[in-house]
Amino acid sequence: MTAKIIDGTAVAERMRTALAEDVERFKAQFGYAPALGAVLAGDDPASAQYVRMKRRACEKIGIESITHEMDANSTQAEVEAAVRSLNDDPRVHGILVQLPLPAQLDEEPVLALVSLDKDVDGFHPINIGKLAMKGREPTFTPATPTGCMVLLEDAGVEIAGANAVVIGRSNIVGMPVALMLTRANATVTLCHSRTRDIPAIVRQADIVIAAIGKPEYVKADWLKPGAAVIDVGTNKIDDPDTAKGYRFVGDVDFEAAKEVAGAITKVPGGVGPMTITMLLQNTVKAAWRLTAEKVV
Ligand code: GUN
Repeated sequence: MTAKIIDGTAVAERMRTALAEDVERFKAQFGYAPALGAVLAGDDPASAQYVRMKRRACEKIGIESITHEMDANSTQAEVEAAVRSLNDDPRVHGILVQLPLPAQLDEEPVLALVSLDKDVDGFHPINIGKLAMKGREPTFTPATPTGCMVLLEDAGVEIAGANAVVIGRSNIVGMPVALMLTRANATVTLCHSRTRDIPAIVRQADIVIAAIGKPEYVKADWLKPGAAVIDVGTNKIDDPDTAKGYRFVGDVDFEAAKEVAGAITKVPGGVGPMTITMLLQNTVKAAWRLTAEKVV
């Protein structure tokens, strides 16, 4: 059996078209655009690239962006001041602090400083705390985990009652996606570096979320036939056969896995395009929420 390929690029494109229309409605009503404020501290090339991609995606659908680029030696006080100025700036509706911050900085107080109404990355401890609690609704949920959930739903995967296995417990992906799957009534196992016999656990899974950052770590013979597989990994590997000398692969051995899985994402073209789309969606939502509050 060959799996249904879950096309993140197509889902993201469809959602971005709808968002662009929503942005037009917003502008027509209020005479200005939704805006995203970003803090980029340091010179990590991957982070700089992500922020550039986010800016470009904003521009394309009519969202304005304001970026505070800060050098690698920035102090805690300077980064916190940048967040405060975005909190206080009425033109800004959403705030993104690109992670990781340089090693000398403490991320926790920076994320806690982001105004709850502008927390479009969903990393404020109150939003994450609400995500973990029954009967509570976070205002915003983190982009990559939300993108994983949308892809599962779009592919028609039944989440309630399913055995879901998440591999990787990062604050950005693994932990929040495990919480979101739990809220959607899956039975969730969160695997990490101290987990014994990950292949045996994955074999029980109806849904696998691979977010461990190891190239082609999940093997086809770990998968239950028909499982839905969401691959969050983007790993750069050497490949002398390509013009650039490298290419990107996911955390799943895609070519073999697609012969066993029922549905699977590709890398690139799976979760990646969804992450930015979810950030755009949260930014437009923040703009409507903040503006409605002013009108009332
Ligand atoms: N670094 C890697 N992924 C993310 C993300 O989704 N948001 C932010 N702010 N930083 C990241």
